[in-house]
Amino acid sequence: MLEEKKILLGVTGGIAAYKAVTLTSRLVQAGAQVRVIMTEAATKLVSPLLFKEISTHQVAVGMWGGNDEFNVEHVAVGRWCDLVVVAPATANIISKMANGLADDLLSTTLLACDKPKIICPAMNTNMLNNPATARNLATLRQDGVVIMPSAAGHLACGINGSGRLPEPEDILAFIDGYLASLHGDLKGMKILVTAGGTREAIDPVRFIGNRSSGKMGYAIARDAARRGAQVILVSGPTALEPPRNVVVHQVETTQEMLDAVLSAYDQVDAVIKAAAVADYKPHHQAEQKIKKQDDNLVLTLDKNPDILKLLGQRKKHQILVGFAAETQNLLENAAAKVKKKNLDMIVANDVTMQGAGFSTDTNVVKLLYPDGKIESLGLMTKEEVGNHILDIVREKVAAKRQEKA
Ligand code: PMT
Repeated sequence: MLEEKKILLGVTGGIAAYKAVTLTSRLVQAGAQVRVIMTEAATKLVSPLLFKEISTHQVAVGMWGGNDEFNVEHVAVGRWCDLVVVAPATANIISKMANGLADDLLSTTLLACDKPKIICPAMNTNMLNNPATARNLATLRQDGVVIMPSAAGHLACGINGSGRLPEPEDILAFIDGYLASLHGDLKGMKILVTAGGTREAIDPVRFIGNRSSGKMGYAIARDAARRGAQVILVSGPTALEPPRNVVVHQVETTQEMLDAVLSAYDQVDAVIKAAAVADYKPHHQAEQKIKKQDDNLVLTLDKNPDILKLLGQRKKHQILVGFAAETQNLLENAAAKVKKKNLDMIVANDVTMQGAGFSTDTNVVKLLYPDGKIESLGLMTKEEVGNHILDIVREKVAAKRQEKA
């Protein structure tokens, strides 16, 4: 997304200004053109020369510096860029932006520039939590400025807390994700993804579960958001960090997953059900931990609702993609699920294969369609499988919309 993009990077006087040097380098490596404006305070922490060498352009600081590249610099550079990023953004620049102050080159340029803006607040935790900063951030949010949440961790003032500037790689990914949401090929689509495994409690400490790590579903959700879709992720318990720019509903049981999916079903264009759902739950949940007694313990299980089958029965405009995790008769079993659950496609993985199925970073899948067509994909990363599925979903949603028009 960054290829050929013109980025104006504002660097203000926070201790984390040094990270903006790496950010500039990563942006340039990703194919972006970068022009840097520093505040006077930032130049006390990092030399403008460093930014000049990395961005290969003059670095502007003062109003009267005379950068020959731009005529009336604060207006021209704002017109030149596609996107403004302020990293780190101190409480001071945030306050100036929120109140329309223009008393140096950066604040004047920000006021004159009508391009999208991302700011990365970085400061001491108390400053960040101060009601004045919170008010200013809320104003900026209302004005359409995108605010990247600051990270938590060790701060220069010696305490641990929120207010850290995220790492340059994370800022780069955030910028990339934001640009994709503006220009991505799934813009205008709303996609619901389920991921992870559901759990059914036996007693307060034990449950029936499965081996799903959530990697497959999270990869799909992350890519769909990166490509501009509005994404709702309904996730069973996992150890994964939720993707950015995704609305996440954390659930535990099959019933909770069903409720979360049904509450969003009418609004979405597609559902991709990568979750491994518990088909049965204990008839009785013990209120206290079951004590060890006899050699055998018999649990009576009740059938859970089949979420995907219910969605298939209620399908209107939605594209429905299921997954099939099989250990034998892959094609036969998966084809039966396409019919039984009224799906537009099923992604079948033989989970006994090397590099396929649960917990791996890769998968080997076959795509089956209602007309009997089968497409085999070789060993791919879950990211690649996700993108392939999303390509097909995009085409099917577009065709469905055309049909209705
Ligand atoms: O999470 P990972 O570790 O990355 O692993 C990925 C995966 C193996 C979990 C994934 O690739 C996968 O195959 N997911 C589906 C697992 C599964 O439950 O398959 P199934 O054949 O039992 O179910 C078929 C489809 O019906 C699935 O889309 C499932 O979400 C859905 N289903 C199943 C039962 C049920 N009660 N309700 C459902 O909606």
